[in-house]
Amino acid sequence: MNTPAQPAMTLSELADEHEEKMLHELNSKLPAKSVLFGMADGKIEIANGNATLAANPGKVFLMGEDKRLPKMPDKPQLIDFLRLRMASTMHLLQSARHARKAGLPEKIVLACLLHDIGVVGFIRCDHGYWGSQMIEPYVDEEISWAIRAHQALRFYPDESVGYTYPDQYIKLFGADYKPEPYIEHAYKEALKHKWYMTSRMITVYDVYSFDPNTHVELEEFEDIIGRHFKQPKEGLCWDNTPSSHMWRTLNWPSRFL
Ligand SMILES: [Fe+2]
Ligand SMILES: [Fe+2]
Repeated sequence: MNTPAQPAMTLSELADEHEEKMLHELNSKLPAKSVLFGMADGKIEIANGNATLAANPGKVFLMGEDKRLPKMPDKPQLIDFLRLRMASTMHLLQSARHARKAGLPEKIVLACLLHDIGVVGFIRCDHGYWGSQMIEPYVDEEISWAIRAHQALRFYPDESVGYTYPDQYIKLFGADYKPEPYIEHAYKEALKHKWYMTSRMITVYDVYSFDPNTHVELEEFEDIIGRHFKQPKEGLCWDNTPSSHMWRTLNWPSRFL
């Protein structure tokens, strides 16, 4: 049986479509690429603003949201960032579930849930430091301290809790990788710290090999987030804390300035 042909668009429909496309193009702003984004491709370069404008007559640079990315609410909270700006949260959710099942205090479960937000939402290098700094104004100091310290602790075993150097790291970094002196220094300092075990628990419940068959929903931890992560009424980005700029950058990463 023949399916009836789609009726062709009328001239006026075509004109409307064309006009809409033009309008969209006129309204679309030019996203800017930071130097850091190019460095990951081995390039140190920045586009010349005026040359880019000259090549795109009628346009201006983006100074707000990037419409190619999922739309964020006006007053975004942690959950919105986890849902709309993190490349993947399954590793974090699996780690947090392990910690919760083991009966660890809620503070540590939250630390496990957020321990790698630096990696999945921002930048890999020194992810423990970046991630800790992002959340510092909103959580108990013990949580942000533990997230910062896990960056170093994960490279060092602790037999007392059954933590060994992850096989995954041999695979990822090679058998001859030795942590740099600043990591070793941070490890030694952490060892003496009153919250050492909190950070150590992050490494114990870290899921070093990702399990594709375990699916965990963020809803499972909404209660813990509600109790232990301050939700500013203005939204993250607009609450004027020492890390608000980091959330804003994550909100609109291609803003010109
Ligand atoms: Fe980590
Ligand atoms: Fe991790």
